[in-house]
Amino acid sequence: MIDRDADKRLAAVAAVREVCDDMLVGLGTGSTATHAIAALAERRLRIETVATSHASAKLAESLGLRVRDFAEVSRVDLAIDGADAIDAELYAVKGAGGAMLREKVVADAADRMIVIADGSKRAQRLGGTPLPVEILPFAKSYVVARLAHFFDRTAERPNYRTDNGNIVVDGHGWDDTALQTLADSLVAIPGVVGHGLFLREIDAAYIADGGIVTRLERGRNPR
Ligand code: A5P
Repeated sequence: MIDRDADKRLAAVAAVREVCDDMLVGLGTGSTATHAIAALAERRLRIETVATSHASAKLAESLGLRVRDFAEVSRVDLAIDGADAIDAELYAVKGAGGAMLREKVVADAADRMIVIADGSKRAQRLGGTPLPVEILPFAKSYVVARLAHFFDRTAERPNYRTDNGNIVVDGHGWDDTALQTLADSLVAIPGVVGHGLFLREIDAAYIADGGIVTRLERGRNPR
């Protein structure tokens, strides 16, 4: 049987090898990113970090990593983060952990962003994965009504608030044939503050499957 957690760790360790002294590193969120934070701390490099969630900041600090306030940062060298689904184009769905807005901001600020994942996250198509949408609580009913145009079904996460104080609605059953159009349509709805479609942020990925790590680079992967 495949040990998914061991694969997450392998992918994380491979990505962390790209980190050098003097870098400012963006720390992702989730179980795979947790392995990367631990692997980074073990390397004892002379680096600084920014975190995409309170949970990752807390973990990194507890392991001795210096975590800067991202509000005071305009550029990051390298971001390392997990994903819920990723295809050969390095388009991905993120946000099962609810951190996709901060993750996207840090990824966008990064010169390079690497996704780390176990093999179960590789997808031929993204539309089978629920797409998280972060919504201003004030706008909930209005936005959910608008989302019905794009999803077969939506489900609000019960008793949940993001680190930004917003709610998350997961969109199920969506058309993945025009990803950029969908992304543009979602951000155009007033009250939507973010979503989990990552279309241009990811530069590379380390995917570990059954102990074998594969490195994907944007624009260079067989379909
Ligand atoms: C956090 O909100 C997410 O984007 C995670 O990066 C993603 O869900 C992957 O998480 P796991 O590494 O726990 O599968």
